[in-house]
Amino acid sequence: IETGCLSIIVLGASGDLAKKKTFPALFNLYRQGFLQSNEVHIFGYARTNISDEELRDRIRGYLPGGKERTEDVSNFLQLIKYVSGSYDAPEGFQALDKAISGHELSKNSMDGTSRRLFYLALPPSVYPPVCKMIKNYAMNKYDLGGWTRIVVEKPFGKDLASAEQLSSQIGELFEEPQIYRIDHYLGKELVQNLLVLRFANRFFLPLWNRDNIANVQIVFREDFGTEGRGGYFDQYGIIRDIIQNHLLQVLCLVAMEKPVSMKPEHIRDEKVKVLQSVVPIKDDEVVLGQYEGYKDDPTVPDNSNTPTFASVILHIHNERWEGVPFILKAGKALISRKAEIRVQFKDVPGDIFKCQKQGRNEFVIRLQPSEAIYMKLTSELDLSYNQRYQGVVIPEAYERLILDTIKGDQQHFVRRDELKAAWEIFTPLLHRIDDGEIKSLPYKPRSRGPAEADVLLEKAGYVQTHGYIWIPPTL
Ligand code: BG6
Repeated sequence: IETGCLSIIVLGASGDLAKKKTFPALFNLYRQGFLQSNEVHIFGYARTNISDEELRDRIRGYLPGGKERTEDVSNFLQLIKYVSGSYDAPEGFQALDKAISGHELSKNSMDGTSRRLFYLALPPSVYPPVCKMIKNYAMNKYDLGGWTRIVVEKPFGKDLASAEQLSSQIGELFEEPQIYRIDHYLGKELVQNLLVLRFANRFFLPLWNRDNIANVQIVFREDFGTEGRGGYFDQYGIIRDIIQNHLLQVLCLVAMEKPVSMKPEHIRDEKVKVLQSVVPIKDDEVVLGQYEGYKDDPTVPDNSNTPTFASVILHIHNERWEGVPFILKAGKALISRKAEIRVQFKDVPGDIFKCQKQGRNEFVIRLQPSEAIYMKLTSELDLSYNQRYQGVVIPEAYERLILDTIKGDQQHFVRRDELKAAWEIFTPLLHRIDDGEIKSLPYKPRSRGPAEADVLLEKAGYVQTHGYIWIPPTL
């Protein structure tokens, strides 16, 4: 593990992402001892002209336990300094560089490193100018060694062409090993466990293929709408917001071949192969929906066709998965909040219990809430995390991912060719939706989404098992 001076610079420090996710994740890492106060300095950077103290006050309320003003909270907040400046002019970044260097030089006597992690909690439109400013004025000091890393988050463009444009703009300034594209689903506990589950258990190895699996569903539901984010959301829609990134990343981990090793590049190589094997999406394997009331939001145009729900069937053309539909389903304002992977097995050949309607074997990985892995056998096999791992705190996705960035481990980040392949899959469909060629069907808030999506599911061969409902354990 590296030691020495580490500067974490949160750009867009007063924005929503920084307040709700980045700073709380940094605070939790600090509390757990991953960020040592004698090495780490945190800088907030944004346009507003405020003092260090004002920034700390804005952040405080979002930290777990922040309102109680514990010692941890105040020690953590003391690590944060604020620098204001614009996102496209040298002055601000020169001032930032000076502040970072000041900290590096004062610690320099210890071991003289210059590790700089720039977290861009900003809209992607400013990624290129900000990257340019960092590159020109705020890189790690060459003579001190260390590194400069950039963390960015979606939306990476709106389609293949715009994503590629953004990638090349950033790519001209930074090398791929310096760029950490966050998909926070890759930081979730059960997503991180997928490869171990699949490749370290003899149980699954012989079963995980088209001979045994009938279909796979990857489902995301939220029980609230786009309140407060209508303006952003209407530009993107549920496919760009959830399916093309979060669910597709999960699909890669479910479907990929065993990597040569656990090295990040080996894993990402296999993910890219899965994406490249996905065949073009057919219109009749897509159902779009928009919840009633979505357009009441004043920031959403009255004629919006933006889907807030989508169910899309993907087919992977390779030896393992030919003929197995992968159903990706996501929706806002639905009946419940959950994310899960549902692997449904084929019927037992020559089933002598058929008349008793036992239902099919299903293997469910519940990503959230109440993390669990359970199997619908003819009885129940249930590994509920909060029961089995009582008192163990599962870290937030962002905590893990920031720590990975500090360690220089890119396994759980999206590589440029992965991003490109993901856009290749969805771009033709998205263009047809944007052109109004495929319509979003209305659905009632707090429902399962449009009934047509269930018809599609049935068409894909999913068989609902009645009489078995997994109940999250209460402790
Ligand atoms: C974000 C989407 O990436 O993920 C949001 O932009 C969504 O629309 C969120 O609500 C869901 O994340 P989580 O971790 O709460 O499932």
